[in-house]
Amino acid sequence: MTSSPKAKSHFRKAVCSLAQKFHTHEHPGEKVVEWKFDAAGPLPTSIDSTSLRNKVALITGSSKSIGASIAKTLAAQGAFVVINYAKDSKSAEEVAQQINYAAITSTSDLASASLPSDHRENGENGQVEHPQSQPQHQAIVIKADSSTISGGQHLLQETLRIFGRLDILILSAGLMGSKSLSEIDEAFFDAHFDFNVKAPLFLVKAAAEVMARPGGRIIFLSTSLTAASTLLPNALCYVASKGAIEQITRVLAKDLGTRGFTVNTIAPGPVNTALFRAGTPQHVIDNIAAQIPTHRIAEPEDIAPIVAFLASPAAQWINGQILGVNGGYVV
Ligand SMILES: NC(=O)c1ccc[n+]([C@@H]2O[C@H](COP(=O)([O-])OP(=O)(O)OC[C@H]3O[C@@H](n4cnc5c(N)ncnc54)[C@H](OP(=O)(O)O)[C@@H]3O)[C@@H](O)[C@H]2O)c1
Repeated sequence: MTSSPKAKSHFRKAVCSLAQKFHTHEHPGEKVVEWKFDAAGPLPTSIDSTSLRNKVALITGSSKSIGASIAKTLAAQGAFVVINYAKDSKSAEEVAQQINYAAITSTSDLASASLPSDHRENGENGQVEHPQSQPQHQAIVIKADSSTISGGQHLLQETLRIFGRLDILILSAGLMGSKSLSEIDEAFFDAHFDFNVKAPLFLVKAAAEVMARPGGRIIFLSTSLTAASTLLPNALCYVASKGAIEQITRVLAKDLGTRGFTVNTIAPGPVNTALFRAGTPQHVIDNIAAQIPTHRIAEPEDIAPIVAFLASPAAQWINGQILGVNGGYVV
């Protein structure tokens, strides 16, 4: 429903008048309600507050699975998105084409979104490069190994070169190996902490210097296994690395919160992706599904809208939280 500015003004005056009467009128013998009405306060704008129009989002590991679904959902809300992959260029190009085709054929005004030039130089230190011109596409593809610090730096530099700004950073790429204590070695441990902790942390460190402020959004991916009573011994390194991410989230929320950023973590339950299915026998998946009230594990599309909400202006007051998204698997 839309209304004209004139109608909104009339409505506001009527509400102010009603509120003042309510505040001053006293009923003998009744408790006076102390409702202080702030006539200058804004009316809610719920439609705009979840739009990501003109935001630039970088999603690591977004050519498939959860990352791809997040990229598509953010793009549907109006964001320019970076599709990142390490090996499979075909899948990455398909996701980007899908988004760009939807933008061209869309009947909404999202297709005509453009990056405002007055927002391109966001780094206080002025390090942000100007893009050559307005980006031609809503989604672009960047090949970079997000398990390394150098890969993350390349990803960030290319994002800034092409889009000229960054508003939303989502650290989705991750490693989930399966070994018990007696089986793990140093390389296995290091691989998890390099991929799941070190590389994302250093990407955030670099990105935080150039992200739009205030309003920047950083979202990590953890797992319900950090809280699940059904914790598997062979998930030791994976769960330990995700536990580190949860704690990093809490600390960074305080640190980067001073710049007007929010830092949060989504902790999904089991999701139907290659990462989860690799090495998980069907009877284990069935057993897990039986513990979820709807008797199914999640699809990536169950997770992505929650990430999109956290990335939106409406979620400005959610900061430093670990949000379980598991259909009631862990309560
Ligand atoms: N699936 C679950 O049940 C589940 C549950 C809780 C939390 N999570 C978390 O959610 C996140 C995403 O999980 P997922 O299941 O969607 O993972 P996934 O299926 O393994 O994701 C694959 C995507 O990540 C990309 N990728 C892999 N290695 C990369 C690298 N080194 N650099 C850049 N991109 C890379 C892949 O591109 P290429 O194919 O080109 O390499 C592909 O786009 C992870 O952090 C995971 O821990 C998952």
